[in-house]
Amino acid sequence: MSGKIVILTGAGISAESGLGTFRDVDGLWTQYDLNEVATPEGFERNPKLVLEFYNARRANCLGAAPNAAHEALARLQEGWAGEVVIVTQNVDDLHERGGARDVIHMHGQLDRALCADCGHRWDAPKEMFVEDACPKCSAPATRPDIVWFGEIPYAMDGIMDHLAGCETFVAIGTSGEVYPAAGFVHQARAVGARTVEINLEPSSVVSAFEETWFGPATEKVPEWVGRLLG
Ligand code: APR
Ligand code: ZN
Repeated sequence: MSGKIVILTGAGISAESGLGTFRDVDGLWTQYDLNEVATPEGFERNPKLVLEFYNARRANCLGAAPNAAHEALARLQEGWAGEVVIVTQNVDDLHERGGARDVIHMHGQLDRALCADCGHRWDAPKEMFVEDACPKCSAPATRPDIVWFGEIPYAMDGIMDHLAGCETFVAIGTSGEVYPAAGFVHQARAVGARTVEINLEPSSVVSAFEETWFGPATEKVPEWVGRLLG
């Protein structure tokens, strides 16, 4: 086997790096109201609260390290004869810091900033403030380059092309609660791809997967990669 592998990751792959998840017992959406901090309307209402929320997550991420699961996926990209495409819902940079290449961040990235007025993007400072001006048009309309609920995820055309040509689709550390990502497994099945779910516990879409590996990502992902690379 050396066909194209498409991997979708979620917050569960970064959980053991200490970044927490969204929908687990102590997840972010149990501490914050996502409508206040992860929607364009929330940003409109209270940009200071939203920028502080992402400043805290950016600091969290800076203090975290990639784990054995991130590093195993980088090894797979290195050692696999075919293409290995990593699509992540995560906005942290732990895949890159774990050695992965060309990671597709469909929900944006904590370390990027966006001007809500002119669409300019640049590397985000450690902390963002409401009065920050856009380096290009000087409008005080800067926001994290994160895809909020109700907005269109990035790179969807490219992701659909990758799924249309994949031989194996693997979902790691995602609850299968948020679309379009939760529907990728159906696109993969439609082209006859093998489907694998690696998760701490069954996701909401587990029934769509042929093969499941349950347990912590830092154990199961290196085991699964080791099996593939022989
Ligand atoms: N190893 C493997 N899986 C884990 C681990 C772990 N150590 N810890 C938790 N998980 C699993 C949980 O069982 C759960 O299925 O990770 C998943 C995390 O699910 P969510 O918190 O819903 O995170 P995610 O699926 O990435 O959320 C998708 O929702 O809020 C939006 O934009 C946000 O990208 C996010 C999207
Ligand atoms: Zn601008």
